[in-house]
Amino acid sequence: MGFLQIQFLNLLEILVIIASSQSSLSATPPNFPIAKPHCTDRCGSLSIPYPFGTAPGCYQSYSFFVTCNDSFNPPRAFMQNSAIEITDISLDGQLRTLQFIARDCYSHNGTKISSNRPWISLPRSLTINYTANKFTIIGCNIRGFIPGRSLNRNYTTGCVAMCDAKDDLMEGSCTGLGCCQTCIPKQAETAILSLLSIKNHTSVWGFNNCSYAFLAEESAFTFSSENLTNLGNVKKLPMVVDWAMGNETCEEAKGDASSYACKSDNSKCYKPDNGYGYRCSCLEGYQGNPYFIDGCRDVNECEDPHLNICETRCVNKIGDFHCACPKGYHGDGRKDGRGCIREESRASKLLAGLLAGLGLFLIMAISFWSYKILKKRRSNQLKQAFLKRNVGLLLQQQISAHDSILDNMKVFTSRELERATDKFNESRILGRGGQGTVYKGMLTDGRIVAVKKSKRVNEAQLVEFINEVAILSQINHRNVVKLLGCCLETEVPLLVYEFIPNGTLYELIHDDTTGFLFSWDVRLRIAAEIANALAYLHYATSIPIYHRDMKSNNILLDEKYRAKLSDFGISRSVAIDQTHLTTKVKGTFGYFDPEYFQTGKFTEKSDVYSFGVVLVELLTGEKLISNSVTEEEEEDEERGLIMRFLMTMKENCLKTILDPRIVEQDVKEEHLAVANLSKRCLNLNGRKRPTIREVAMALESIRTSDNPLSVESKMHDLSYSETCTVESRMQDLSYSETDSLVLNRVETASSSWTLNND
Ligand SMILES: *[C@@H]1O[C@H](CO)[C@@H](O)[C@H](O)[C@H]1NC(C)=O
Ligand SMILES: *[C@@H]1O[C@H](CO)[C@@H](O)[C@H](O)[C@H]1NC(C)=O
Ligand SMILES: *[C@@H]1O[C@H](CO)[C@@H](O)[C@H](O)[C@H]1NC(C)=O
Ligand SMILES: *[C@@H]1O[C@H](CO)[C@@H](O)[C@H](O)[C@H]1NC(C)=O
Ligand SMILES: *[C@@H]1O[C@H](CO)[C@@H](O)[C@H](O)[C@H]1NC(C)=O
Ligand SMILES: *[C@@H]1O[C@H](CO)[C@@H](O)[C@H](O)[C@H]1NC(C)=O
Ligand SMILES: *[C@@H]1O[C@H](CO)[C@@H](O)[C@H](O)[C@H]1NC(C)=O
Ligand SMILES: *[C@@H]1O[C@H](CO)[C@@H](O)[C@H](O)[C@H]1NC(C)=O
Repeated sequence: MGFLQIQFLNLLEILVIIASSQSSLSATPPNFPIAKPHCTDRCGSLSIPYPFGTAPGCYQSYSFFVTCNDSFNPPRAFMQNSAIEITDISLDGQLRTLQFIARDCYSHNGTKISSNRPWISLPRSLTINYTANKFTIIGCNIRGFIPGRSLNRNYTTGCVAMCDAKDDLMEGSCTGLGCCQTCIPKQAETAILSLLSIKNHTSVWGFNNCSYAFLAEESAFTFSSENLTNLGNVKKLPMVVDWAMGNETCEEAKGDASSYACKSDNSKCYKPDNGYGYRCSCLEGYQGNPYFIDGCRDVNECEDPHLNICETRCVNKIGDFHCACPKGYHGDGRKDGRGCIREESRASKLLAGLLAGLGLFLIMAISFWSYKILKKRRSNQLKQAFLKRNVGLLLQQQISAHDSILDNMKVFTSRELERATDKFNESRILGRGGQGTVYKGMLTDGRIVAVKKSKRVNEAQLVEFINEVAILSQINHRNVVKLLGCCLETEVPLLVYEFIPNGTLYELIHDDTTGFLFSWDVRLRIAAEIANALAYLHYATSIPIYHRDMKSNNILLDEKYRAKLSDFGISRSVAIDQTHLTTKVKGTFGYFDPEYFQTGKFTEKSDVYSFGVVLVELLTGEKLISNSVTEEEEEDEERGLIMRFLMTMKENCLKTILDPRIVEQDVKEEHLAVANLSKRCLNLNGRKRPTIREVAMALESIRTSDNPLSVESKMHDLSYSETCTVESRMQDLSYSETDSLVLNRVETASSSWTLNND
């Protein structure tokens, strides 16, 4: 019995709650004025907020004038003095009107017996809402039009409704069978509803004697096949109308305070969806009518059960509210938030959390610390092992009993070099190659150096590597990059070189942005310097050193654009792999001695061949390898430059391939002499190539001699005597003239033609 009673009480409570919430939703009378003082704010059940009003002085402008006709019961409101009835006005900028339906009715013999064409014309500031309303026609074999004006332009839109068989009609869907619908343009102010039969009305089976057209709220109408006859009783349908203030934007309107419509404090201006005029609204936490002074009032959220979401205590503030918790509790006090929580529990939780955190931290710190120590010990052990091994290897390479390698070279610790290169920071990378990476570093004494970190190598390669280090430490030539020292504590020793600031010869030749005037004299000097350095390596050191990777990329330029040979010897054991056709390493293949490629035997003449390629680069300013070509095309491409060069030599039209930057300079004899020299260096038969010493001497003579060609021709036969095509000769007569003068042999008729020409 007691149980039942409780149940009953609960039910009662629920009912009371439902009843109260419903009443608060619908019947709460607004506790703020919506109309101006002494103005009617009602017409029947319709509330009329300012800017609308029923008398002069009560409305903001005549567009918002509403007539309330008391002769109806209940009274009805009309737009201005028109027959357009208003059923709803909202401060959000919308109102609802009842609009007449257009209709055409026919008698049984097919003659039209009645027709009406209502037109809609809204006052300024009011527009037909183009998303909520649809132009709809109902009937068979008719077209509906709706011509009107929007944005000061005339428009016409419309649709067609057919019904060839009654069974085709689809209930609830207005898509052209017995019913069709279309949208209207934005900001429309006027519209005329029109209908037109497509066929004679008798041709339809007669189940509909009228066709209809209306512009109405889409949601107010759902098509049913019965509407083809049934619509007769309905005369009007609701239409949604947007209203806005003026025709200006918010910014324009604010400029004129007297006409600006958002009069209330705590109100703001916003732009309607259709972009016409502006509207006003109260700021959050306020409500009321933003269109008159003091219209936006603070909302007392604490009094409204829907807005009051506080667990225990609600404190209203102007424009806002906040929830409070009783003493001894904390939290935000909100039902949708954390609520109120007892203080004690917080303190104990805090303590527990603190302890747990501390414990975790200690464990982590200890493990991190021991990891660090272990790691450090291990890395020190490794360092010691590497050092021992590398030094051992190096000491085996003693050049002479009293001259230890380590005397010639500074030995750096790995820590020193890490500091110099900022722990081998990515940003310090100067270049990356097949053999390793070069970093820019600064030693503690302020010297700038280049630190080379080689790729990992196997034990045999390491011996070789150390061997090379030993040799390099002996070299002291002004056109060879100086090895300053090394670090032996790493697996593969780190090498420390002097830093050469002006980039590579490759960049100088191919990158126009350097801004350096790369004249012929400079090119010739650089060529001579490289040849000298190579000759020194080949002949002046205790063991001949072959560069093995001669290319413009490996020639560095110092602050005075003096050439410095770099990156040699080290790669002996890996060179073949890296320069093999199939590997991805680029930039080396084009310089490759073809003979070495066939025999696998590297000779001093292989370096000469590569040097010849560099000479061609200096002469033509063209790249051997174009970045855009793929691996397969590459071979042709680079053969291309050397082949083209040899071809122009053969055809006596060298000028066509020369770098335009040097052609200007009037030293064609020098051009020809150097071209011939490089041709000899590029001889496929290594034995026929000059030695690098001969090349160096020849270049020196070309630089100093008054008659460079005689220098070159004295040493070997010039092979200029082949034919040249007539066109290329014509293009380049000046060059061929000189060529012909120094020809040693006359082999063909065409070349004698050349001579005759002279
Ligand atoms: C009110 O409506 C009646 C009936 O339609 C009409 O005769 C009368 O003129 C209207 N009064 C006003 C003030 O518009
Ligand atoms: C058709 O019917 C209407 C009345 O229903 C009549 O006035 C008209 O004369 C008729 N027309 C023809 C061609 O029969
Ligand atoms: C729009 O239509 C009206 C009436 O049909 C006409 O007087 C007016 O010239 C038209 N305006 C334009 C811009 O076509
Ligand atoms: C439609 O009506 C017109 C005149 O009312 C007539 O001339 C025409 O022949 C009719 N067409 C058909 C297909 O019945
Ligand atoms: C159309 O037909 C229906 C019944 O078929 C009739 O009640 C109605 O009066 C007719 N409408 C007109 C305008 O003739
Ligand atoms: C269309 O037909 C349906 C079903 O008979 C009816 O409920 C509805 O009121 C009709 N619509 C209009 C606008 O007459
Ligand atoms: C805005 O309305 C004013 C007053 O009717 C009118 O002079 C002005 O041309 C209108 N401006 C625009 C852009 O429609
Ligand atoms: C048109 O009516 C829709 C639906 O009520 C509304 O979302 C939209 O904002 C209205 N358009 C304008 C310009 O007020």
